[in-house]
Amino acid sequence: MLNFIKGSIFSRNQSEPVPEEAEQDVQVLAVWGSPGSGKTTVSVRLAKYLADQKKNVALLLCDMTTPMLPCICPPAELECERSLGSILAATHITDTLIKQNCITHKKISYLTIIGMLKGENVFTYPPYTQELAAELIDHLRDIAPYIIIDCGSSIAHDILSAVSLLEADSVLRLVNCDLKSISYLSSQLPLLKDQKWDADKQYKVASNIKSNQAGEHIEQVLGSVAFKISHSDELENLALAGNLLGELTLKDSRSFRKEIARIAKEVFGV
Ligand SMILES: Nc1ncnc2c1ncn2[C@@H]1O[C@H](COP(=O)(O)OP(=O)(O)OP(=O)(O)O)[C@@H](O)[C@H]1O
Ligand SMILES: [Mg+2]
Repeated sequence: MLNFIKGSIFSRNQSEPVPEEAEQDVQVLAVWGSPGSGKTTVSVRLAKYLADQKKNVALLLCDMTTPMLPCICPPAELECERSLGSILAATHITDTLIKQNCITHKKISYLTIIGMLKGENVFTYPPYTQELAAELIDHLRDIAPYIIIDCGSSIAHDILSAVSLLEADSVLRLVNCDLKSISYLSSQLPLLKDQKWDADKQYKVASNIKSNQAGEHIEQVLGSVAFKISHSDELENLALAGNLLGELTLKDSRSFRKEIARIAKEVFGV
């Protein structure tokens, strides 16, 4: 077996060629936005897209209220049960600690996942500090060349998501084409402005745009939007089946797939 990058958790058969990794500007991408806007969906599908392109990717699922691991693939497809909580319970983060608590996918070998397990909640583990969360993001950079963070919407109550937003190299800011979603974002953005959040690293994204919604008018409210992600019934059905990492093949999801590829190209150059 051969280590792909120094200190990486990833390994593969020596017979497999090692793809060249171009130096990219963005390594850590945080996906954030209104509740229910599609943050987890977009994070998971972007991570799958990169893994399908033979890029080693770590997917950090921050949601501690609703652990998302049980929703992204059947449990039998995951190598083991390990928890983000065990990482955040430590006094200091090390690369080894992260590697010990990463979950690899049996079929998607380029993907590793970190998240809370079914049945766990924020009180399952001791409280953690902002400094520890920053250490985690920093050490994740040693773990994989591509890191996608599925943030929780509520940054006022979720340290890891708030720190991820501040520490990420780039951020996708998702909004649905409805007034509730837009109202949520306008209430949260002042919190980030106080933190001197770098507005230049954000991409505004209109997400899960349905055919009856005035997606083309969203820019009148938000200003220019970098990406417009369509609704797909096929994707919704994968989500209902608890298999967000499943294959999308139908014509119905073509526009969604194209936009995910466009995001990967624009953000990571992949
Ligand atoms: N492009 C899409 N096509 C079809 N369904 C979608 C799409 N994006 C999101 N959804 C559906 O919308 C719902 C919310 O999506 P998701 O859970 O990804 O949002 P979220 O922003 O992560 O939510 P939360 O705030 O609860 O974390 C899910 O039922 C998901 O299947
Ligand atoms: Mg989510």
